[in-house]
Amino acid sequence: MAEVQPLTEESVIDYVKGKEELRSVFEGADDIRSSQITEGNVNLLFRVYSESDPDKSVIVKQALPYAWRYPDFKMPLDRSRIEYEVLRLEGKYCPENVPKIYLYDPELHVLVIEDLNHHLVMREGLMKRKRYPHVAEHVGTFMARTLFYTSDLYLPSEEKKAMVPKFINPVLCKVQEDLVFTQPYIDHPNNRWTPGLDEQVRRIHADDELRSEIFMLKELYMTHAQAVIHNDLHTGSIMLNEEETKVVDPEFAFYGPMAHDVGTYLANLALNYAAQEYHSPTPEERADYRKWLAGQIAETWQVFEREFLRLWEEEGNDDWPSDAFRRKYMLQMLQDTAGFGAAEMMRRLIGLAHVHDFWTIEDEGIRARAESLGLNIALAWVRNRRSVEKIDDLVEMVTEAKPEV
Ligand SMILES: Nc1ncnc2c1ncn2[C@@H]1O[C@H](COP(=O)(O)OP(=O)(O)OP(=O)(O)O)[C@@H](O)[C@H]1O
Ligand SMILES: [Mg+2]
Repeated sequence: MAEVQPLTEESVIDYVKGKEELRSVFEGADDIRSSQITEGNVNLLFRVYSESDPDKSVIVKQALPYAWRYPDFKMPLDRSRIEYEVLRLEGKYCPENVPKIYLYDPELHVLVIEDLNHHLVMREGLMKRKRYPHVAEHVGTFMARTLFYTSDLYLPSEEKKAMVPKFINPVLCKVQEDLVFTQPYIDHPNNRWTPGLDEQVRRIHADDELRSEIFMLKELYMTHAQAVIHNDLHTGSIMLNEEETKVVDPEFAFYGPMAHDVGTYLANLALNYAAQEYHSPTPEERADYRKWLAGQIAETWQVFEREFLRLWEEEGNDDWPSDAFRRKYMLQMLQDTAGFGAAEMMRRLIGLAHVHDFWTIEDEGIRARAESLGLNIALAWVRNRRSVEKIDDLVEMVTEAKPEV
């Protein structure tokens, strides 16, 4: 296969000008410019826009056979097709919560999507203690719809089985298996943590009971082909403003356990809660914003559960005629959400891929305290998950956790 040339700030302009599908976006613009977006790690991204009318713009995302920032890290080009197919699928069920797709070019592994230039990455918004009045409704509904409509509760059994191979994503899944479910629990050179956490991390590494619980989740992650999950649904994959919420970057998607998406999102709210140790300027503001975040954990789950059950009731297939099964299914989902959420928190605190909420804390003492609180929330979620009965149990574990340093 011929090597594909990476686009550049120059060549991407000609690329865009040459595409019929983009003509209407740039109608009348003779001053098209581009700039590379360097926030991500994996793909090449450019904003291509008209200088005099910046609302005439698109995002061009190109997958290379390696991670853009770490060229030694090989990555399959097929992730671009998966991202395209999942964006389309999500767009079918939740058009208001995903960017529009202008084109997909399988030869150059390029996706051209709507420029969300009136939206902010949610993680950055939370660090500034912004409140979004509709985000729980939007994310809860997005998860309920995308997960329900791709599951065996809705699709006829044969149709669902035919979908599974389209979303086989072995290399990106292996990345998550290693980084989320394995490395943080063993002595591994990829791991890093703030020195003040040494003692807590030593105990985590010595805790084989904890490791066994994480491996139960890892096995579930690897084998439970329940729905098309986004598989990287953290607050860095959400762009929003007060009115709108858009979920981006589904390149990790595959047929996996629903609770992984729900848990990952709720975990990132809890991580921000812990990081407010630093980001809030006063104890009053900290308490106030934490109350909002804790409320978001509860409300997002409640919206998710309500919408999921409504869809099941109104549009579910005839294969599961049991009320008790419905109750058990939702309870299992909540308990698995706690487990997957815990795994997401731990890997962000003591594994390879840390998050801005904590990175940006320069003072190591404050960072250690915030991270120590995050670790204790995670440990409470994973250790107590089998006795969780309602979302308030998880919220309580967040609000009652204490830092150790
Ligand atoms: N549709 C969009 N409109 C505006 N900005 C976007 C859009 N999509 C992505 N971005 C910006 O580009 C950054 C990287 O995007 P994305 O996460 O899709 O890329 P990636 O290469 O897969 O990165 P990673 O997986 O490492 O986060 C986002 O954090 C956001 O700042
Ligand atoms: Mg990505």
